[in-house]
Amino acid sequence: MSIRPIITAPDPRLRQVSKPVETVDDELRALMDDMLETMYDAPGIGLAAIQVGVPLRVIVMDLAGKDEEPAPQFFVNPEILDPSEDMNVYEEGCLSVPEYFDEVERPARCRVKYLDYDGAEQILEADDLLATCIQHEMDHLEGVLFIDHLSRLKRERVLKKLKKEQRLAAAS
Ligand code: NI
Repeated sequence: MSIRPIITAPDPRLRQVSKPVETVDDELRALMDDMLETMYDAPGIGLAAIQVGVPLRVIVMDLAGKDEEPAPQFFVNPEILDPSEDMNVYEEGCLSVPEYFDEVERPARCRVKYLDYDGAEQILEADDLLATCIQHEMDHLEGVLFIDHLSRLKRERVLKKLKKEQRLAAAS
């Protein structure tokens, strides 16, 4: 397993639509292992493959608390089914939008159909943080960032700040 560099906004790669995985094989499991290690190292609770530059429909997550056993979850080709009409608001952040957090409203519950680490089809009932997190990661597969759910003014302010920081980092 190895830690891969995480791409940050406004890198245009984050705007790609990721492609479906054809086979869940050892090569894909190696990618998922790397993604998990990268996410734990960051640290974060969710990561989509495009965030390490791989445009495939793969997500890893772990919502276990600090004092709990790790509980990694792997989602290949996930699809959201039956999003609820009632909404939840969570303060979200993203490893590709460092050091910025803001409230986003999303359906409070949904079901997710996906292939697991072994390629078996699964359906998961998600609510609360799990529902929000999976929807945030699903957005990445469509090239959407959580800041796209905010006002244009806020989004532009965040992107401008990130661009400036990247210029400074490149110059130093
Ligand atoms: Ni994210």
